[in-house]
Amino acid sequence: MNTLLLGNSIADIKSGAALIKKGGVVAMPTETVYGLSADALKGEAVEKIFKAKGRPMDNPLIVHISDVSDIERFNLVKEFPQKARALAEKFWPGPLTMILKRSDVIPTQVSAGLDTVAIRLPSHTVARVLIRESETVLAAPSANKSGSPSPTTAQHVLDDLDGCIDAVIDGGMCSVGVESTVITLATDTPRLLRPGFITVEQIEEVIGEIEVDDAVLFKLSDDKKAASPGMKYKHYSPKAKVVLVSGGDDAFCAFVNEKYEADKSVGAICYDEDKFELLCKCIPIGKSDDLESQAHLLFDALRQVDELINISTVYARCPQKDGVGMALYNRLIRAAGFEVICLE
Ligand code: TXA
Ligand code: MG
Repeated sequence: MNTLLLGNSIADIKSGAALIKKGGVVAMPTETVYGLSADALKGEAVEKIFKAKGRPMDNPLIVHISDVSDIERFNLVKEFPQKARALAEKFWPGPLTMILKRSDVIPTQVSAGLDTVAIRLPSHTVARVLIRESETVLAAPSANKSGSPSPTTAQHVLDDLDGCIDAVIDGGMCSVGVESTVITLATDTPRLLRPGFITVEQIEEVIGEIEVDDAVLFKLSDDKKAASPGMKYKHYSPKAKVVLVSGGDDAFCAFVNEKYEADKSVGAICYDEDKFELLCKCIPIGKSDDLESQAHLLFDALRQVDELINISTVYARCPQKDGVGMALYNRLIRAAGFEVICLE
């Protein structure tokens, strides 16, 4: 298959929509990461997404809408509870995904056999115009090969999926950089399943206390069922080994320098301030207190690791577990296969 590279003009977005109407798969920019989209109401089109990504069929997809009214218009859910409406009011369009009880129009490929569906209204104009022009709602996981870091540029998408999808719409680099916050409102107490740019603290200001699923911060034991199937898979990994290192600035740099002295194939994902102290090749992702920059650059950094020649192990700074730091920690701990070295 020849993958078409489209720009973000209206004409280009309409070409993308035409491909989707024919049952094709098109990668689209969103404010979080690039998504690989198909008509969410056509099971056969959705199957092509799984095939292109190499995604396990038991991992459900997020349905993207272009307006809140799409929920009723396409009859997507059994109920749209008050707390969900309050969150939609506050955070949509934006990087929040809500799990609700699904209606029967959702194909089993989208819900992976669950009785719920994940819904998100992205804020990226190109995504919203594409959904609207497709005259449907779009199922879209991140547009990477299953297991690799999520794509934040059209080039990342092509690196993984060129020749496997119909088109990619280039909307530049994604502003947020990590995938949406996922919260379920299908349980008695709302529960966070995946942390993102919209934080627990912000959500609790709107709907009161929520639970945080164990899989967000800890490795699930093999006998436990994941509430969000995506959380159980190894994820975001470059080919080089990633190790998280928790400790202060001086301790981190001294530790990595010592490793580098012993083994020149060591690299680092670090804060801007560290790069002057480190002897090894390093990829800075922002100042130590600039979590937004760190989120924006994290996945690109994980992809860059494999472009650094002769790097076999990369040491990364271990983020704080609150605010946007929770999202960074959640992604990095998976990239690291849950390996953390504590220096104190
Ligand atoms: O920011 C994002 O959310 C991006 C952009 C493209 O919108 N999409 C994305 O999709 O990250 P994906 O498929 O890579 O991640 C969706 C996560 C997975 O962990 C999946 O298991 C979970 O959401 N999920 C989807 N539907 C679910 C459901 N009904 N119940 C529980 N978890 C669900
Ligand atoms: Mg993904």
